[in-house]
Amino acid sequence: MAQDVNSPNFTIGVIGTGTMGRGIAQISVTGGFRVKMFDAQEGAAEKAQEFIHRMVSRAAEKGQMSEQDATAANGRLQIVGSLDEMADCGMVIEAIVENLDVKRAVFGELEGLVAEDTILASNTSSLSVTQIAAGCAKPERVAGFHFFNPVPLLKVVEVVDGEMTAPWVADKLDAIARKCGHEPVRTQDTPGFLVNHAGRGLYTEGVRILAEGIAEAHQVDDVMREGGANFRMGPFELMDTTGLDVSGVVMESIYEQFYQEPRFRPQAFIRNRMAAGLHGRKVGRGFYTYEDNKKVVPAAPAAPTDLPDSVWIGPEGHASTQVLADFLKGKVEIETGAKPSARAICMVAPMGRDATMTAIDLGIEAERTVAVDTLFGLEGRRTLMTTSVTDEGVRDLAHGVLASDGGAVTVIHDSPGFIAQRVIATIVNISSEIAQMRIATPEDINKAVSLGLAYPQGPLEFGDRLGASKIHAILTAMHDFYGDPRYRPSPWLTRRARLGISLMTPEA
Ligand SMILES: NC(=O)c1ccc[n+]([C@@H]2O[C@H](COP(=O)([O-])OP(=O)(O)OC[C@H]3O[C@@H](n4cnc5c(N)ncnc54)[C@H](O)[C@@H]3O)[C@@H](O)[C@H]2O)c1
Repeated sequence: MAQDVNSPNFTIGVIGTGTMGRGIAQISVTGGFRVKMFDAQEGAAEKAQEFIHRMVSRAAEKGQMSEQDATAANGRLQIVGSLDEMADCGMVIEAIVENLDVKRAVFGELEGLVAEDTILASNTSSLSVTQIAAGCAKPERVAGFHFFNPVPLLKVVEVVDGEMTAPWVADKLDAIARKCGHEPVRTQDTPGFLVNHAGRGLYTEGVRILAEGIAEAHQVDDVMREGGANFRMGPFELMDTTGLDVSGVVMESIYEQFYQEPRFRPQAFIRNRMAAGLHGRKVGRGFYTYEDNKKVVPAAPAAPTDLPDSVWIGPEGHASTQVLADFLKGKVEIETGAKPSARAICMVAPMGRDATMTAIDLGIEAERTVAVDTLFGLEGRRTLMTTSVTDEGVRDLAHGVLASDGGAVTVIHDSPGFIAQRVIATIVNISSEIAQMRIATPEDINKAVSLGLAYPQGPLEFGDRLGASKIHAILTAMHDFYGDPRYRPSPWLTRRARLGISLMTPEA
């Protein structure tokens, strides 16, 4: 069935030679395939060809491939002037304008030209593969083959099964991807597919934190980068880089496509910022301002230097208290009795709960209470959180001791789950739901997110590292506090947390 992808004559047709098409053509020729490129716009394919030749030659200069291989790869690239010339292709991928009718028209035309067993693939990022295929006489040979920008660097591709896609089609696409040096991940045809679906949590929880007045955009980014989670960029840096005109539209579209699932709900300020043209780096203004394309970050105020006489950290015995005790040891006097002495400030380390409610439940004064996020320990940037009524002096003394070893501290307003806890718990929860809905396997979820979004770990690996039961407890506490269904734990997470097993455990 279908042409052999290992045959030297297997030819890939690439329609649309813009940002994505040229990248796909490049990895296809370097992967050993013959490629025919077509673009409707005069001169566009020629430009893409020049670009690819330059990229391939540069790879040879850098020693990433031999001169001989580079010449052979460039020789496998051919421009064609019409779709008719795609007739002998084993697979044709379109990377044209993101418009259902136009994509359907192109596939309709191709069907009359190519062999019965030629695969028709779409690089669409937001349209339904099933809807594109529904316009074809043979929808079973249509699949999504969704690459990421820049294609040669982000070495993962989503192989998207439409409702009608035949199993052999996705198997062939897997083999093609591997020959091109890319990792294929399999996903069902659902909004955002796998990567853009799993990537929602970082954005939606980031914007929720900002909307609720808990922290500033740069503080959220600082914590996600330096607070132990080790993200390369925080949500606001990411939105500024992609451009809010693109990421804002994706945010709204995924929310709507999932029938207003609360987990994906954006915040009203996103629409306003889009309307105001605050699109980010490319216009010089977004969540940050940019001077000479460099991000301007507000200077951090100097940390207070006075230390408290005594810090009450609550009764001994639970893990988060231990993290605080280890940190404070040798720096200040520590109290662990049932109640704080009159001269102590109170430091608590809740999971999924805010500082105010924690103080009330412990029967301590909210005025002299602060909370510290210990989810990732206290090695990296520390997050210090006030109650609604913490005295400024208490806050500054707590800040002083947290900064006394030179470590960075971010001071935020009260929040169930601080910043890192709620963002990470949301990310793990959404990926758990992806596994639950059988959109992709746990392995592919981790692979897709770490390769496609460059997260430091796959989301389910994050969950396992921190503990499924801890993530579950954070979400449950947030759900109780807000009463907002966006925080309800996925059944996948709940069951594995209660069973005490890995989030990677497949359903029997
Ligand atoms: N840019 C990204 O980051 C990205 C990432 C993943 C997927 N995608 C998807 O890839 C596709 C292409 O995106 P892009 O960013 O490369 O766009 P682009 O605008 O850079 O390139 C599109 C090219 O297609 C050509 N074209 C348009 N209609 C055509 C037609 N009917 N026949 C032949 N050629 C036609 C245009 O002339 C242009 O050269 C879209 O479906 C997009 O959603 C884009």
